[in-house]
Amino acid sequence: MTKKIAVIKGDGIGPEITEQAIAVLDRVAEKFGHKFEYSYVLMGGCAIDETGEPLPKETVDICLESDSVLLGAVGGPKWDKGEGSKRPEAGLLGIRKALGLFANLRPARLFAPLKDACPLKDEITKDGLDLIIVRELIGGAYFGERTTVTENGITTANDCMTYSDFEIERIARVAFDLAKKRRGKVTSVDKANVLDTSRLWRKIVHEVAKDYPDTTLGDMLVDNTAMQLVHCPSQFDVIVTENLFGDILSDEASMITGSLGMIPSASLGEGSLGLYEPIHGSAPDIAGKDIANPIATILSAAMMLKYSFDMPREAEAIENAVAQVLEEGYRTADIMSAGCKQVSCSKMGRLITEKI
Ligand code: IPM
Ligand code: MN
Repeated sequence: MTKKIAVIKGDGIGPEITEQAIAVLDRVAEKFGHKFEYSYVLMGGCAIDETGEPLPKETVDICLESDSVLLGAVGGPKWDKGEGSKRPEAGLLGIRKALGLFANLRPARLFAPLKDACPLKDEITKDGLDLIIVRELIGGAYFGERTTVTENGITTANDCMTYSDFEIERIARVAFDLAKKRRGKVTSVDKANVLDTSRLWRKIVHEVAKDYPDTTLGDMLVDNTAMQLVHCPSQFDVIVTENLFGDILSDEASMITGSLGMIPSASLGEGSLGLYEPIHGSAPDIAGKDIANPIATILSAAMMLKYSFDMPREAEAIENAVAQVLEEGYRTADIMSAGCKQVSCSKMGRLITEKI
């Protein structure tokens, strides 16, 4: 198969980690007889420098014409002082919205060789840890009306959290469909004891659940979920939640696997076009030093093969290669532990590529 991939390298460590993911994709193409064609486009800080905009129209157009999008990371201190719409993050939110990517899948699982990196006690993780957060991505407070007004010497800022029934229904379906292929358990996370959006969320999710008799549904308040994630994470299979809650809980979930640098993500819409990115940021402090961990981006490429290109065997080849390299004791600095062999970003990429 021939597939067109738009690549947004982005800022900070973005270029070096995407380079490794592309090397891995090229190896997959060679091994399985596919052709991947890349179009490099600008977004984030580098796009602001080049064009004055975090998300040039050309980038959106090329992404829309592609079969999927691979993204490194955007942002950095250089652009932090800009007003809201001129920050790199606005590019990220803009592309998610422009491509209609309402469902963000963030898996968190404990890789056996990285057990020591997990900050939780052994007894808490003895039953394993393999959950996936399904985060609504283009609604809620991130996309509601935003104002800051000063009146009579008092300045008031307002971010409006809004959800409509159809937005909740479609994300709930993604969660239940995923649960069907996993352990059949959905936990819907909200703050229904306080928020109206959450009460609507809960009502709609329960209506959707009727179409999935083989899956179980539980509701959990977001504050309790934050606690349960460190108290008893093995209880979770699929967690579905709104945008802001999902942003926060997915960082927490990734950290309990011990390694923010290991977690990929997929952002999906109605069609097969998706955007694939590591959940970590652009880490400007280590950019250009060839010490970043490319694994989250490489695993994001694997998710692309699975979800956008329907290539499960190819995706598995990447996942197995990553597991083997870890098994053999190779580590980037962020996941280094005693007795292991520390390698650079490019070396880690090469080791994984060679295993495919
Ligand atoms: C993420 C990031 C983004 C978000 C930021 C950079 C806008 O934290 O992908 O989780 O909040 O969605
Ligand atoms: Mn985040």
